[in-house]
Amino acid sequence: MRKVRVRLGSNSYEIQIGSGLLMQTGQHLKGIGFGDKLVIVTDPTVKSLYGNILKQSLTSGGFKVAILLVPEGEEQKSLETAGRLYDELSHFYAERTTPILALGGGVIGDVAGFVAATYLRGVPLIQIPTTLLAQVDSSIGGKVAVNYGRLKNKIGAFYQPRLVISDINILKTLTSGELSDGLAEAIKYGVIWDEDFFAYFERNIDQVKSLDGRALETVVFRSAKIKAEVVEKDERDLGLRNILNYGHTIGHAIESVSDFKVQHGEAVAIGMLAAGRISNKLGIFDRNELVRLKSLIERANLPTEIPDLEVARIIQAMKHDKKILKDKIRFILPKSIGNVFITDEVSPSLVEQALGGWNEET
Ligand SMILES: NC(=O)c1ccc[n+]([C@@H]2O[C@H](COP(=O)([O-])OP(=O)(O)OC[C@H]3O[C@@H](n4cnc5c(N)ncnc54)[C@H](O)[C@@H]3O)[C@@H](O)[C@H]2O)c1
Repeated sequence: MRKVRVRLGSNSYEIQIGSGLLMQTGQHLKGIGFGDKLVIVTDPTVKSLYGNILKQSLTSGGFKVAILLVPEGEEQKSLETAGRLYDELSHFYAERTTPILALGGGVIGDVAGFVAATYLRGVPLIQIPTTLLAQVDSSIGGKVAVNYGRLKNKIGAFYQPRLVISDINILKTLTSGELSDGLAEAIKYGVIWDEDFFAYFERNIDQVKSLDGRALETVVFRSAKIKAEVVEKDERDLGLRNILNYGHTIGHAIESVSDFKVQHGEAVAIGMLAAGRISNKLGIFDRNELVRLKSLIERANLPTEIPDLEVARIIQAMKHDKKILKDKIRFILPKSIGNVFITDEVSPSLVEQALGGWNEET
């Protein structure tokens, strides 16, 4: 098992990464000193694949366990779902010492995390992420939230988990689309923080795509380390943590203009490359590096070209994005692979060029 420590003073915690951890959870939690009751929040697909393994492990560790189900889908990240979970927790007589185990992807992690942050003014949260995106990103850093109407993640909190358990074996049942979502975020870490990690991808992308256990473990471990380092420096997202949005300014706009037909990872990949092109046009990001980035994205089976969407609508959607400062769009741009900077000095016409003239050069 590999471990990453997230150092946040009294809110510090460990991320455990390895194969077969799920079935050891009961034994592991036994020694930590929680109460004798535990609640698993999960969705039907994850429950049918992994719910029983986790429940058995917990019961044999001596815990009384309730499984609370949340149907699948982003629309379940809502106050209604939170309300229903509060009712069910209350029927189970959950106490302040009763941990909530969020077993699932980012949707489950976010809504179960929100409930853990608010029920009885906070009960212990344990993240057991089951998608690659959740293992490399959403389970770490304590952002928990529900959507409010059409407003994404509008109601939430910073609430750190007590523990994150990332079992690599669990990733083997993901669809290729779900894998790509996480892969885009992991490649992002290479660009924003660690050229050596980017080079690891260049050497090992085929093993990662074929779900090789050792390669996946390395990807989750190195991603978790980087996210932990960034969060430690800026827990409340007041500065540095912004760099995690690299590729997301344009990516979110593409997702929204396509009515979410373009998947998150695909949109982020297009956004990362477009940000690279903007930086290249500003004379900052070297062309050879841009070509490296494009080539890795292609080899990861992620798109490099903007789909058939109006560029003007994408720019309009970006203006609605939360990363706007006094009418200027905030961009995270690469200086070189492994190094980014934040700027709000990118003109809409440059964005248009980077998106519109997509096929002409790279
Ligand atoms: N809190 C944060 O810091 C943060 C960061 C990034 C994203 N997010 C949030 O994460 C959410 C997206 O998360 P996601 O991409 O994990 O999607 P998801 O949670 O919707 O899961 C995608 C699908 O995969 C299925 N699934 C999960 N694990 C599986 C497994 N091991 N095998 C087979 N199927 C499995 C689920 O049942 C679901 O249908 C969004 O709501 C986003 O806002 C949060």
